[in-house]
Amino acid sequence: KRLAILASGSGSNAEKIMEYFQHSHQAEVALVASNKTDAFVLERAKKFGVQTFTFSRKEMEAGILTQKLIDENIDWVILAGFLLKIPDELTRTFSDRMVNIHPALLPKYGGKGMYGMHVHQAVKAAGDAETGITIHLVNEHYDEGRIIFQASTPIGPEDSPEDIAQRVHALEHAHFPRVIGELIGA
Ligand code: GRF
Repeated sequence: KRLAILASGSGSNAEKIMEYFQHSHQAEVALVASNKTDAFVLERAKKFGVQTFTFSRKEMEAGILTQKLIDENIDWVILAGFLLKIPDELTRTFSDRMVNIHPALLPKYGGKGMYGMHVHQAVKAAGDAETGITIHLVNEHYDEGRIIFQASTPIGPEDSPEDIAQRVHALEHAHFPRVIGELIGA
């Protein structure tokens, strides 16, 4: 199975996924693609010897990214901190073969705008007793694809959004690579 990771930022999740599959015979991370030419995830990919590809939003919307994924015989698309809305044409091409991770317990705190520290500030402001991660398939309706896995962590009254972000990130690293492996049978 050939995996492509789409990421817009640091790529700590991408790094964990590349580590997890680096000796696998069933799956390999064949491509790391980003809409940001300066995204640190590209450096992480180079360290693992993984091909990188950068594109603009306009190019993505013109189908350039979809064509690249097809040309590279990609089987699964992993969104790991990818901040653009996936065009419907790309979602349809990889229907039920595209996975995203969201740093909250969907359906709560889903949708546009809920990324980075915003989501943890919202959870804190709402006084929720817990938060967590959601790994789900991507469909045309943003964060509403079939939920594959969720894990939660309690929120204490003294927790800052930064504390929450740190614990949620740890949950992502602990679970995302394995959940992908189970999903793709690798
Ligand atoms: C993670 O918090 C993930 O839940 C969200 O974007 C962030 C990516 O972090 N979608 P990193 O770039 O993998 O460190």
